[in-house]
Amino acid sequence: MRSFIVVGNLATTTPDFSLEDIPGTSGRLDILCRCINSAFVLSHGIRKDVQVFLVLRGGSAPKTVHLRGGELRHLNPDERTTAALLKKALALEADGEWRRATPGIFVRAGDLADLQVWGEGTTYYLREDGIDHRDAITAADGTFVLGDHIGLSAEDEAFLEGLDAKIVSVGPKSLHADHCIVLVNNELDRIEATVQEGSSRDEAVR
Ligand SMILES: C[S@@+](CC[C@H](N)C(=O)[O-])C[C@H]1O[C@@H](n2cnc3c(N)ncnc32)[C@H](O)[C@@H]1O
Repeated sequence: MRSFIVVGNLATTTPDFSLEDIPGTSGRLDILCRCINSAFVLSHGIRKDVQVFLVLRGGSAPKTVHLRGGELRHLNPDERTTAALLKKALALEADGEWRRATPGIFVRAGDLADLQVWGEGTTYYLREDGIDHRDAITAADGTFVLGDHIGLSAEDEAFLEGLDAKIVSVGPKSLHADHCIVLVNNELDRIEATVQEGSSRDEAVR
């Protein structure tokens, strides 16, 4: 499983934002919508081996939205449709339990530290000054943490350091978070293809 976690420092935890002006009324939920698109959308389908957690901190208490590729429906490539799905999720009452809003989309109260993905495979923190992701990523899965336009706080970084997360860079320029996700997905696809090619060659030799 590939897990992408995106922290929305100012992202709204309520459905009270306008689909006509997502960047201006939602604490930049548009960034997170683009991350969802990059994480899941293929030319002809949805990646089923991907899950995304959006950590929304622009409210009185943080909320997390969980999107599961294997169950997702109604996801279109445009930001507006994705924002409308998040609006439905944010309209649900959120406590410590996951609540299903639409197929594949769940919401609950909680922050980064409350996620249950930690410890499942390697955790990578995407940061511009990290080591080259091509040297660091060796398997076709993992947990990848990204910031929004503000980035991650010192507390978040200390938390990830405590998890022994590898700090990785996808290239020499500072990119948008959604573009980083495309690059990571592509790198993982290439590793997966190489592994599959190797096993078919082994089968043919046997
Ligand atoms: C637009 S950047 C944040 C900009 C800048 N770090 C800041 O705090 O103002 C959004 C996120 O994309 C990721 N990112 C951007 N460029 C990257 C790169 N070259 N390598 C790895 N991650 C990158 C980081 O996770 C970053 O927090």
